[in-house]
Amino acid sequence: MKTTVAILLLSALALANAQSICKKSFTVTENYVEKTSALVGCTDAECTYAFSNPLVVGTSASGKTKAGDNIGTCTVFSSTAAGENRSYCMMSLKTPSGIINFGGEFPDFKNGDFTMPVTGGTGAFLGASGAVRCQVVKPGYTWTYTVSLTKAPTCASRRI
Ligand SMILES: *[C@@H]1O[C@H](CO)[C@@H](O)[C@H](O)[C@H]1NC(C)=O
Repeated sequence: MKTTVAILLLSALALANAQSICKKSFTVTENYVEKTSALVGCTDAECTYAFSNPLVVGTSASGKTKAGDNIGTCTVFSSTAAGENRSYCMMSLKTPSGIINFGGEFPDFKNGDFTMPVTGGTGAFLGASGAVRCQVVKPGYTWTYTVSLTKAPTCASRRI
């Protein structure tokens, strides 16, 4: 009986977490984690990194509601004297409801604010299109993404 209650409670929490981002528009924040990032390699001109960083719901880096992970690769093609990088990135927001793929030029600068296209999705986000606005909270460490899809995802009536 206690186990059933615990399982129901955990399912309800998982559902609440999933539903808070299974929307036409939502915001998540990514926090860089060193141990899940790796240098893929460098040429004379640029370096490429692969990473998987956790996402939380909302605009705060210390948000407590997990939203999934941002997984991707970035190729740094220029750097400023201050060590800020301009990259080309391809990324996947991996959420409990499905994946949203997006990417493009990524100027990882202080107060950076730019928009990248959504290129597709899976699960509730199958066939996704739209845009992802990125606001750089701290270059190299924290970024907020506001996803704006052209159509609502198909998760509202779905069990996860
Ligand atoms: C910028 O890129 C360089 C190497 O390509 C890397 O060592 C450095 O950590 C990057 N800086 C930030 C802020 O991510």
